[in-house]
Amino acid sequence: MEYLLILSLVLLTCTLGYAIRCKSFEERLRRERHHLQKKLVTAQQKNERLKQNLQKEQGIIQLIQKHMTESILILDDCDKITLANDSAMELFSIDRTLLETHSIFTLTDYKPFLDAVRMTKKEGSARQLISIGGEDYRAYIRRVDLTDRNGTIILLINVTDSVKAEKIRREFTANVSHELKTPLTVIKGFGEMFGSGLIRDTEDVQKYGAMIQRESERLLFLMNDIIRLSEIEEHIETHLTPVNLRKAAEEVTSLLSQRAQQNQVTLLSDCQEVCIMGNESYIQELLINLIDNAVKYNNPGGWVRIVIKSEGEQAVLCVKDNGIGIPKEAQSRIFERFYRVDRSRSRERGGTGLGLSIVKHITEYHRGTISLKSELGTGTEITVLLPLKQT
Ligand SMILES: Nc1ncnc2c1ncn2[C@@H]1O[C@H](COP(=O)(O)OP(=O)(O)OP(=O)(O)O)[C@@H](O)[C@H]1O
Ligand SMILES: [Mg+2]
Repeated sequence: MEYLLILSLVLLTCTLGYAIRCKSFEERLRRERHHLQKKLVTAQQKNERLKQNLQKEQGIIQLIQKHMTESILILDDCDKITLANDSAMELFSIDRTLLETHSIFTLTDYKPFLDAVRMTKKEGSARQLISIGGEDYRAYIRRVDLTDRNGTIILLINVTDSVKAEKIRREFTANVSHELKTPLTVIKGFGEMFGSGLIRDTEDVQKYGAMIQRESERLLFLMNDIIRLSEIEEHIETHLTPVNLRKAAEEVTSLLSQRAQQNQVTLLSDCQEVCIMGNESYIQELLINLIDNAVKYNNPGGWVRIVIKSEGEQAVLCVKDNGIGIPKEAQSRIFERFYRVDRSRSRERGGTGLGLSIVKHITEYHRGTISLKSELGTGTEITVLLPLKQT
């Protein structure tokens, strides 16, 4: 009996223990499941966020690719284009439907570019200046690891403006050196002759002394013009004040009247009261250069007419002459620095070829435009349009 009671008690304890264990196991399971669910939701949210970020980044990359002016191309190992932005497609005039089947070597025929791509396979990278459709491009080409195989990344940047600026800079340096060389050689030569006592005769002293003076003046004019040009280019003087064009023209005309008389050229003027916002000394310089040219490149008995008037929103400043005129083929070049139609004739008249370049820069400084009409043997007319001063 006692034995049975003990057995029942043991059985009861075991059942109870089992039940309690089952209960706590269930509880643990429930908690575990809840925990896992929470983790899953967090992971899903994280995944969603990553997906959204990825889409956003892809969108940004696509936007950059679409709107960047630089051209990007990615080639696979067989030189087929795997990625090309709009700018690259346009640059090489590539048909998108041919991308999967054709290599870059059959899609374009720009030899220096294709040579650079070939070279990259051997050397790993290449940098090449190439010309496409009259524009200059710097191509940066590099071999890269594209996850499971090699490929090539190509970046093309339009450098036309900097190539042009570099050319102008080189020409400018060469021209300045050339312009400096001649007067300096004359000054040095006669200086040495004076120093060694070879020139003693009073007449010779006067003659060669005058030559040294003339060449020194040329140097000074040249230096002044170069300094002026760089000042205008740098926009150093930016202070704009009301400028009365009629007054400026009268001042410049009286300044140049003696020179005109010497050349037997008549100065005529037809100037209205017109005002602009500008830099007075620049405007005077513009007028001096235009009127000086009209007097200088004229014939005895010739005339120069200065016209100032307003037309709509613009001031019109026109200098017309009946001088020697400018040949057609030279007309597009006369605003270039150091360009002279007849170098020897201009030199003999003291010109450096910077005057009209200064005029053009001054016009642009005042947001104006300049135009030229000329006929060889008949005369020249240069018209500058400047925005009128608002009243
Ligand atoms: N009114 C004009 N008639 C004929 N030729 C002109 C006239 N104005 C300019 N030219 C030509 O254009 C060239 C350039 O003119 P620009 O004023 O720049 O230089 P320059 O007169 O030779 O020298 P600088 O003005 O620097 O003393 C001149 O050398 C001349 O050949
Ligand atoms: Mg001149």
